[in-house]
Amino acid sequence: MSVDASIALLAWYAVDKRRLPWRAEPGEVPDPYRIWLSEIMLQQTTVAAVRPYFEKFVTRWPSVEALAAADYGDVMAAWAGLGYYARARNLLACARKVAEAHGGRFPDTEAALRALPGIGRYTAAAIAAIAFGRRAVVVDANVERVVSRLFAVDEPLPAARERLYALADRITPERNAGDFAQAMMDLGSAVCTPRAPECGRCPLASCCTARAAGTQSLYPRKAPKAPKPRRDGVAYWLEHDGHVRLVRRPAKGLLGGMLALPTDAAPAEARWREAGSVDHVFTHFALTMKLLCAEADSRPHEEDAIWWPIASIGDAGLPTLFARLAARGTEWREAA
Ligand code: ADE
Repeated sequence: MSVDASIALLAWYAVDKRRLPWRAEPGEVPDPYRIWLSEIMLQQTTVAAVRPYFEKFVTRWPSVEALAAADYGDVMAAWAGLGYYARARNLLACARKVAEAHGGRFPDTEAALRALPGIGRYTAAAIAAIAFGRRAVVVDANVERVVSRLFAVDEPLPAARERLYALADRITPERNAGDFAQAMMDLGSAVCTPRAPECGRCPLASCCTARAAGTQSLYPRKAPKAPKPRRDGVAYWLEHDGHVRLVRRPAKGLLGGMLALPTDAAPAEARWREAGSVDHVFTHFALTMKLLCAEADSRPHEEDAIWWPIASIGDAGLPTLFARLAARGTEWREAA
């Protein structure tokens, strides 16, 4: 891409960029904390889903020091519903590292950023470019699509990933890399869309190889995906005196660190009754989880049990799968 094309893209961005709560307005100094937080939240997650969570987090924890001092359970509960919960565990670990090892200031190089929990190649590049104005090559799925069309890359994803990265490197300017990266992302989300891209209003149309051939909709090419395996599971709704028994899941593994209904083994001997099931799709498999419900005669004393008031189950911070199962549980008790 020529210098002119990069200027045309930045001119388009100056006018058409999305107003997003983590973006600095012209003349404002970017806040690395807000940029880091938004980039973690935006991994595998849409801008629309992230917005309310971002607002909630920065209102409650306005600085990296404030977040570093937060309670683990509070952070996990605040993240509930956003998915990919390893991000929330790493978020807190990263905030604590920045507060303790870096005096509350994010490091400003890609290499130092990558040494922090939860920050990989993409996120380090995005923060270095957007928050610190460094030249860095920022490639997410939107950028991959734009680049695959600009250069008509016939190799399918995911094998093409390194090649797309190298091509993105080739067109990234020395200056304004942060605006350039965000312009590519906004272009991918608003104009160079997966289906029916609007080439008529694209600032890069004149240098796009796929557009010249009329093949833009064929890119990016993708290798066929293997179908997701299916799994079955059981969750237990055990209630007593208006409270339901919850557990905190182990930090490692599926929905790690989140509050949940017990799974796998019944938490007590009781007259268990089926109350339907919930289907939920995770990244690597699809799950059908059956719900068994029972009322306990007493509340046994157990170390790890959390008895949550059913009237305020919506405040427990359950991840979506368990929030849906809990809705089944409350229906069951209302019908009983
Ligand atoms: N997706 C991830 N980071 C983004 C950003 N800074 N702007 C737009 N979309 C994004």
